[in-house]
Amino acid sequence: MKDVMIASGNSNKVKEYKEILEPLGYVVHDLKETKHLQVEETGATFGENALIKAESLKDIYDMIVIADDSGLEIEALDNQPGIHSARFLEGYDYKQKNQIILELMKDKTNRKARFVCAIALIDDQRHIFEGVMEGSIAYEAKGENGFGYDPIFMTKEYGLTNGQLTSQQKNEISHRGKATKLLLEYLKGKNK
Ligand code: IMP
Repeated sequence: MKDVMIASGNSNKVKEYKEILEPLGYVVHDLKETKHLQVEETGATFGENALIKAESLKDIYDMIVIADDSGLEIEALDNQPGIHSARFLEGYDYKQKNQIILELMKDKTNRKARFVCAIALIDDQRHIFEGVMEGSIAYEAKGENGFGYDPIFMTKEYGLTNGQLTSQQKNEISHRGKATKLLLEYLKGKNK
């Protein structure tokens, strides 16, 4: 039996990983079956934080462990919110957070931004698969699709915000889509 523990209780994330892993014969477990992940993300990078999450479970579960970490880096804001993306401007909803970011960016000519996703996998070794989506901060929020900072992130590929893309369009170019592709390639090679 090939068992994998996903270090997340987020049902959307777990569903995505199941779609990738189950066709390869893996039995996927997640934190909803047990308890929520309680670990301090003390790393300096997305990769370090993903590894910290994965390592905290590796001692408990005798199986492959996968964890991820992602966020938005805005060059003109010293790459904020970066690894603090989930907790940035705590207390505000994303509609408000996005308006605050647009206000902070009002006079900035450098609008470059990127989404980064790191997936850590621990089997008998530690692996990190990283995907990046380059783009810029829009001048206004647009689109109802996606989540989080998607309405203010302008893609290079489409000239639309992530919020205006279908999930299929976004997955093809997204940080998470790219990191997941690398993970899949690794697992396919491992199962040969
Ligand atoms: P985590 O990877 O689940 O810790 O989430 C990190 C945070 O980064 C999310 O809560 C969002 O604020 C932001 N984020 C990561 N990926 C995306 C994305 O694809 N669209 C919009 N926001 C994102």
